[in-house]
Amino acid sequence: MSAVSGPNQALFAGFESLTFDDVLVVPGWSDVLPSDVTTGTTIGGIDLALPFMSAAMDTVTEAPLAIALAREGGIGIVHRNLSILEQAQHVDRVKRSQAGMITAPVSLGPAATLADAEEIMSRHSISGVPITDEGERLVGILTNRDIRFCTTAEYDRPVTEFMTTENLITAPVGTSLDQAVEVLHRYRIEKLPLVDDEGRLRGLITVKDIRKRIEKPHASLDDEGRLRVGAAIGVADAMDRAEALADAGVDMLVVDTAHGHTRGVVDTVGNVKHKWPEIVVVGGNVVTRDGVEALVAAGADVVKVGVGAGSICTTRIVAGAGMPQLTAIYECALAGAELGVPIVADGGIVTSGDIVKAFAAGADAVMLGNALAGVDEAPGELELVDGSMWKTYRGMGSAGAMRGRAIDRYATGQVAPGSTAGAGKHVPEGVEARVRYSGSLAELIGQLVGGLRAGMGYAGAASLEELRTKTRLTKVTGAGLRESHPHDVVVHQGDADFHHG
Ligand code: IMP
Repeated sequence: MSAVSGPNQALFAGFESLTFDDVLVVPGWSDVLPSDVTTGTTIGGIDLALPFMSAAMDTVTEAPLAIALAREGGIGIVHRNLSILEQAQHVDRVKRSQAGMITAPVSLGPAATLADAEEIMSRHSISGVPITDEGERLVGILTNRDIRFCTTAEYDRPVTEFMTTENLITAPVGTSLDQAVEVLHRYRIEKLPLVDDEGRLRGLITVKDIRKRIEKPHASLDDEGRLRVGAAIGVADAMDRAEALADAGVDMLVVDTAHGHTRGVVDTVGNVKHKWPEIVVVGGNVVTRDGVEALVAAGADVVKVGVGAGSICTTRIVAGAGMPQLTAIYECALAGAELGVPIVADGGIVTSGDIVKAFAAGADAVMLGNALAGVDEAPGELELVDGSMWKTYRGMGSAGAMRGRAIDRYATGQVAPGSTAGAGKHVPEGVEARVRYSGSLAELIGQLVGGLRAGMGYAGAASLEELRTKTRLTKVTGAGLRESHPHDVVVHQGDADFHHG
C-alpha cells in the first residue's frame, strides 16, 4: 500500500474570519463631538494629522496626488511601475514643492545667460534664481519681474545685466520663518536669500512657501518644512531603487509585495533598513501574526496588512488565497501592539465607514487605492461613459500594469527556478477598471474625514487610540447588511453613488 498523506490536522483552526461588511461599530456612551475628535497618528515616527496613505499604484500615486495628500495631512506612496530615475523624480518633485527654508536653492553663476535662467526656472517651476560667484557668494537675484519685458534677442545676454543687485535684501543664516515673514513684508519682496558671515548663499525663504504653510497648517512636513512622501520598492532592484529614492529625500520606503511573508521580502526589508536606518521602512503585505513577527524581526518599522482585499484584486479567485480584511487587521494589530509596531490596513476600503471599522480593528493608518483613484490629482484622464465621468483604476497585477516594471509584485515565484513550465507567462491577479470621478482630493478627503469623525462620535472615541481600544463591534447578518444600505426606496440619481458618505 502506498502512503497517503492526510490533510493538515489544524486545517480548520481559526477558521472563521470577517471583513468590513460583516460588522458594525456598536454605538457607545459618548461625550465627544465629531468636531472635537483628533485624527492624528504616528507611523514609524512620522506624525500625520490624517491617518491616510495613498496606494502605490500607477493609477493612484504620482507626484501630484502625493503633494495634494501630504498637504491635507496624509502621505502618498509613489508607485514603482516607473524607471528608477522617473520614480526618484516624482519624489524630488514632492520634496521641492514646498519648503520651510530651501537649504540648497537652485542658483546660477554670473556667466549664465537669460536663456539658461529661463530654462532652469521652468524646469524647477520657480519664479526666481539667486546668482552666485565662484566662491558661492551671493551677487544678485534674478526674478520673473526682472525679465518680464525682455525680448528674445536678449536671451543670450548674461544674467548679471538683468538681476537685482542694488538694495539686495538678505538675512543671516538662522533667521526663523516668523522673522522672515516680517522682512518679506517690510520690503515687499517675494524671496529672501539667507547668507553666512562671508556672504555665501546658504538658503532661501519664499513668500510662496510661507503662503502654502498658512493655507494648509496640518500638512505632513519633515524637519525642513518639506512635504513628506513615501515610495514603493520591490525585491528585484530594491537596493538601487532605494538608493535613488533616498538621494531624492524620500521619508518612507514601502517594500511593496503581494506576499510579504517570504524570504525575499524579509531579506529586502532587513537590507534596506540596515543601509538606511533613518528612513521609515514599511514591510508587507501580510495577514497573520507570524507574518508581522517575521517582518518586524527583519527590521520593519511598520507592517502593511492585506492579501486579496483590494477592489481590483483577483488574488483570491486566481490563487484561492487571502484573508478577509477585518480579521487580518485584528490579528496583525494584536501582534503589532505587542511588538510596538504600527499596522497599515491596505485594501478593501471603499467608504468612510470601512475606515472607522479598520481603526476599530486595530489599524494605525489606512491605505487607499479605489477611494482615491477618482480624484483630479490621480494619474490619467477623465473619461465620459454613459453620461458620467470616470477615471481609470487598475490592479498592479493586472495584465496591463504587468507590462510595466512592477511585474515582480505578482510574477516572482510563479515559476520555480529551472522550471520551463509556464515560463514567460504571467497570471494576472488584478483587473483593469474605472471608478467614478470624485473631484479634487481635498474635497474627497473632507468627506472621508467627516465620516471618520462621525464614526468616532458614535463610538465615543476622542482619538484613534480610543477608537482602537474602546470600540465594540457586532456581527451582522445578510438582513442586517441590507438594512444598513438605503432600502425600500428609489434613490435619486445624485445620491445613488454615495460611496464616501
Ligand atoms: P483598494 O483600495 O481596495 O482598491 O486596494 C488597493 C490595494 O490593493 C493596494 O494598495 C494593493 O495592496 C492591492 N493591489 C494593487 N494592485 C493589485 C492587484 O492587481 N491584485 C491584488 N491586489 C492589488
